[in-house]
Amino acid sequence: MCGIVGYIGKQEVVPILLEGLSKLEYRGYDSAGVAIYNNNKVTVRKNKGRLSVLEKALSTEKINGTLGIGHTRWATHGEPSDVNAHPHENTSGDIAVVHNGIIENYMKLKDWLIEEGKEFKSDTDTEVIAHLIDYYFDGDLVLAVQKSIEKLEGAYAIGVISKSNPDQLVAVRKDSPLIVGVGEGENFIASDIPALLKHTRDVYFLDDGDMVILTQENIRILNEFGKEVKKEIFNVTWDVKAAEKGGYQHFMLKEIHEQPNAIKETLSPRIDADGNIDLAEINITKEELSEINKIVIVACGTAYHAGLVGKYAIEKFAKIPVETDVASEFRYRDPFIDKNTLFIAVSQSGETADTLAALREARRRGAKIIAVTNVVGSRISREAEDVFYTWAGPEIAVASTKAYITQLVSMYLIALDLGLKKGTLTKEKYDEVLKELRSLPEKAEQILGDISLIQELADKQFNNQSVFYIGRGIDDYVGREGSLKLKEISYIHSEAIAAGELKHGTIALIEEGTLVIAVATQEHLYEKMLSNIKEVKARGAYVIAIAKENQVEIEKTADKVLYIPETMDELTPILSVIPLQLLAYYIAVARGCDVDKPKNLAKSVTVE
Ligand code: AGP
Repeated sequence: MCGIVGYIGKQEVVPILLEGLSKLEYRGYDSAGVAIYNNNKVTVRKNKGRLSVLEKALSTEKINGTLGIGHTRWATHGEPSDVNAHPHENTSGDIAVVHNGIIENYMKLKDWLIEEGKEFKSDTDTEVIAHLIDYYFDGDLVLAVQKSIEKLEGAYAIGVISKSNPDQLVAVRKDSPLIVGVGEGENFIASDIPALLKHTRDVYFLDDGDMVILTQENIRILNEFGKEVKKEIFNVTWDVKAAEKGGYQHFMLKEIHEQPNAIKETLSPRIDADGNIDLAEINITKEELSEINKIVIVACGTAYHAGLVGKYAIEKFAKIPVETDVASEFRYRDPFIDKNTLFIAVSQSGETADTLAALREARRRGAKIIAVTNVVGSRISREAEDVFYTWAGPEIAVASTKAYITQLVSMYLIALDLGLKKGTLTKEKYDEVLKELRSLPEKAEQILGDISLIQELADKQFNNQSVFYIGRGIDDYVGREGSLKLKEISYIHSEAIAAGELKHGTIALIEEGTLVIAVATQEHLYEKMLSNIKEVKARGAYVIAIAKENQVEIEKTADKVLYIPETMDELTPILSVIPLQLLAYYIAVARGCDVDKPKNLAKSVTVE
């Protein structure tokens, strides 16, 4: 939700903080700020708005210092404003704090601290942390932070500096991400790897409850019981370019174009020398599998849409009943989960609060837990029994594209593997699907090779007030993803609906010129989709259809057709989503929207 960076070393800290924050802006971007220790005081500068506003403000003054913390915010408590921006300070301004997460009991703490004479300036929950540390501070910052976090309920990653401890940066995490970057004569904290890559590739992942005390030369990690722990250094092997735009106008466009490779990266390590799937990371024996009577897939947003396709694929190939649920609902519906349930949490970031809470609930009820995630070392990956990584590479744009496609690939691999192990899928069919799956990077490339019609349509259709997506079966699931993409980045109202449901209500909204996107790739549902297209056309809709190359007669019914290469019906989502992503992207660009940083959104949602 928010991005944190911190630095202690010998270099000027302001440029390091600003550069780090620029790599974390995807986590929140309604305000930004820094706190720097200099000349025996802590100087705070913070502004409402994008990081560029802060950068501009800082360009007019020189603040020297080699110790500091920075923050980019996605507002939860208190509107975006200068005063609510982080860092927050204690009354005397000696202690500065940045925080990602939510302090649930902050009202109670605030009332008490006000009685104790502390003066609050902001509406945020975070400010209580600064005053609490101040309350407990008697010269030892580490002790004061330790005592403070005992009082905190909720989720937090916190970075703290204090005027009295100019040689220390203290940080702590619980249920919000925080990593430590290891340098030479300098050390770092950050919410995510891209913020550190310019300086170091050696990182420590912190566990819940861990506190880290950084000096220029040293890193001490204490666990939740205050005991010093030794951790393995994780070496980041990504190419720095993976987290840069590389000539594209937006990260989203770059990530859409990276999809053929992302499919390959997710597939290749799972195919053995004999051309069979080898899911070494998922430890389910045939015997265990025979005891699994249900699979539950839980996720949010785009990952949920991948989970819907997962349900289709697993039921089709492995003949195991699957429920796919949105994580924010799952734990409030008293779900039927027991030791015979296989629970799959799907999450790009691996840190989505609702998905994590659902995972914990399923674990409490005895389910076996698999995480499908893109982020190594993320909270969800660490709490699952088995982890299936979607090797999409870093996804920076708030709107998920390449991560979604790799989630789909993961779903298919799991479904095929389970199907073969269970004997519900013949080896012939398994080989056929797998062969086709392996041909999809090339077919995805083909779609990306000619996007002129998509651009043309976007230029004509960008002014719509409302857009409807219709489809049947897996086409409906893809339509939902297309609709979400459009909403997120173009702010056009849009709705996806199972095409057969239209006449039960939604068709009342179709009028002259309404844009309807019809996903119609399934042979056995094709005629029915043609009828649905005719229904909306009869009410004046302008229809753009997504169809397979051989389904040309759809041109007689739809106004325009975006074709995807021929593939088997079961696998079409991997291809049919691409034109929808591109259409959403170019419509958003035509409307002048800030595609990579849509309003009100953040890349990972670490609060409920
Ligand atoms: C995707 O475009 C969205 N920004 C959002 O729906 C996202 O997929 C959702 O918040 C889940 O995130 P996760 O995959 O990191 O758990």
